[in-house]
Formats: sequence, structure tokens, C-alpha cells
Amino acid sequence: MKFAKRVAETQNAGLNDLYTAPDPQQISFAGGYPDLAMFPQAALQVAMDHAMANPAAFQYADSWGYRPLRDQLATMMQADGIKTSGEHILITQGAQQGIDLTARLMIDSGDGLVVEAPTYLGAMAAFNQYEPTYYEVPMEDDGMDLVALKKILMTHSVKMIYTVPDFQNPTGAVMSLEKRRALVRLANQFDVLILEDGPYRFLRYEGTSLPPVKSFDTQGRVVFLGSMSKILSPSLRLGWLIADPEIMAGIEALKGAADVESSALIQRGVTEYLAHVDFPAHLTQLQDTYRDKRDVMLEALHRFLPADYTVTEPNGGFFLWLQGPAGLDMTQLQRDVLLPAHVSVVPGRNLAPSHTTQNGARLTYAAPAISDIEPGVRRLAAALSHAAARAQVK
Ligand SMILES: Cc1ncc(COP(=O)(O)O)c(C=O)c1O
Repeated sequence: MKFAKRVAETQNAGLNDLYTAPDPQQISFAGGYPDLAMFPQAALQVAMDHAMANPAAFQYADSWGYRPLRDQLATMMQADGIKTSGEHILITQGAQQGIDLTARLMIDSGDGLVVEAPTYLGAMAAFNQYEPTYYEVPMEDDGMDLVALKKILMTHSVKMIYTVPDFQNPTGAVMSLEKRRALVRLANQFDVLILEDGPYRFLRYEGTSLPPVKSFDTQGRVVFLGSMSKILSPSLRLGWLIADPEIMAGIEALKGAADVESSALIQRGVTEYLAHVDFPAHLTQLQDTYRDKRDVMLEALHRFLPADYTVTEPNGGFFLWLQGPAGLDMTQLQRDVLLPAHVSVVPGRNLAPSHTTQNGARLTYAAPAISDIEPGVRRLAAALSHAAARAQVK
């Protein structure tokens, strides 16, 4: 069968790196999963029961999403710095669908698309379907390198910039305030859309939150994506998209064409949940849990890693970035050394379109049990030291 080109592009994205063969002994620092113990199961069960008592929860609704939920999300996002209302929010199947719909709106084959390097693998999997011409902007400690971005914008035609400004997947970096402002200025100057992906925004456990890039938007060219996946549960497949009317009209039509609407049952259940629980208190619990896990991981990494490795120190989110010596191939190390030692990471190779980030890897401390983190880091560090020693012998 001759499939469309986009299938091969999407299959080649490297999503399989995130799922390693089942190994009961493995300690995985790979998948960006929330801590299983942190799902508010009982409260969600009560909320879903309430929602199910109403037959409307089982009916078709509309592709915008359930208005009371959109209003609740608008209140949350206003408190977070975005001037919006329920009218300007569309419910998506997770942030992933927001990425897909925005790319579908903007990108024809060959159109210029800027991504951070490294970036979120799932975004590239979605983008690849639309066959963009990628331009990579290196990540710095305070967000993407805007000097490099400006050079690209001056010399190439770009339609969209994809960024994860808060606790970036995979580096954990936060874009500085100055860069957020400057990014919008550049987008205005060069007539580019900014896709701001913010699923980790509410998981800051240290320092002061910076306003979303969307809050600096003066020309309606920033699309903001939020998600319940990391702060409530990914299986709800519930995200939201904030955009100005011109963009939103296109997105809403594409959403209807893609899946008609998001589940009314889930949306009503989450609305009940948000109305009856202390959600800020739930967020505080998550922040406390992930802060503790990060501390354990960083302490162990600092103690055990070989000297030629460095790590980032995130103030929130799920991830940190492990940078190895130049020339190292993390994909090969994972296969030959880490998996046999029953530990896994996400090798950097597929986290940039050019595959130039191969001597780094993404590690998560969110999913593993806290008691597994230090033993896992010891395994990782021992395997890396062993591999380096063997390489020297050769
Ligand atoms: C940066 C980023 N965007 C989007 C997603 C997808 O999230 P969702 O479950 O909301 O679709 C993820 C999930 O890992 C992510 O890290």
C-alpha cells in the first residue's frame, strides 16, 4: 500500500524512544508521566458521578467545548496574566491537539517553522505531518537564543515559532521576562505566529512565576495552550487553546473537522471537580511532591555523575537535561549500557530536527517512586562511568 508521505514523516519522529521494552527491574527516567499516586481519584469519581446524573453529559454538544468549563479556565488564566474570557477559549484533546490544529492552520508543505533545539518530541511528530522547513534555535539557560532567532527571521520566511517557555520539555529552562517581551516584538516585526505551549506553567515549585508570552501579545498573534494532563490526569485528554478571533475561527473549524468535539462527559466531570475542590491546594501538593523528587535526583546526580557530565536545575515541571561530553551518542549508550543496567532516559538525538543534540538526554523525576530515584541515578552514573572507561581502553 502506498501511504501518504506524512505517515513516514510521523513514524520517523522517534516517539518509540519514549517506550522501552517492559523490564520489571527497570527504573525509568524516560516517560514524562505524572506521579501515579497524585491523581485525585476519589474527588474525580464524585465529580464524574455528578456529571453522569445529567443526560446531557451523554449527548453531542459543540466543538468549542462546555461553556462553564471554558469560563472556569478563563478565570484561572486571567489570574495567571492572560486577558481572556470563556468566549476565546476552545477545549482540545490535550495540548497535543492544540499543537496539531495550530500547525494545520498555519503550515503548508515547505513553510518555515522555528523550534527550540532541543524541543518536545511530540510537537515535531505533529508538525512533521505538514512537512515544514524547520529552523532550529538553540536553547539557553533563560530560553531560546533570540540573536539566533533574529538571524533566521531576517534571512528566511517563517510562519510560526513553537516555544515551551515554562519548564521546557526537555531542558526544564524558563524563558526570561525580557526574552518573552522581545519574542513578541520579533514576531510582530516579522509577521510570525507564536505557539506558546504551557502544560507545565502551574508546576512552579520555586521562585516567582513569569507572565505567559501571550500576556505580551499586542497583535493577536500568540496562541496559548494549556493542559490538565500534568496537573490533573493525562487520560482525561483535556487541554485548552486561547487565541484571538481570527485565528480561533480557523482553529474551531479544524477542530470540528478533526473530531467534532471533546467529550462532554469528561468536560462536565472536570467542571464539577474544579467547582468543588480546592484546586490551588491540589497544585501545592503536586509542587511539594515534585520539588522533593527533584531535590533527590539533583543531589544524587551531583554525587554520582562522572565529572564530564552536567545537568540543568529546573525550578518546576518534570524534566532536567543531562549533557554528556562532545561526540557521545546517548542513543547507543541507552541501548548498549543503560537498558542492560535496568535504567532508561530519553536520548537527545530525536529531540531536534537536525538530530544534533545526541550527546544529551532528558531525565524525569516526576514518574519514578521517590525511593527509586537515588538507586536509579547510581545505576545511570555507574553505567556512564563504565562506558567511558571502556571507551578509553579501546
Ligand atoms: C511540552 C508539551 N506539550 C504538550 C504535551 C502533550 O500534553 P497533553 O497530554 O496535554 O496532550 C506534552 C506532554 O508531554 C508536553 O511535554
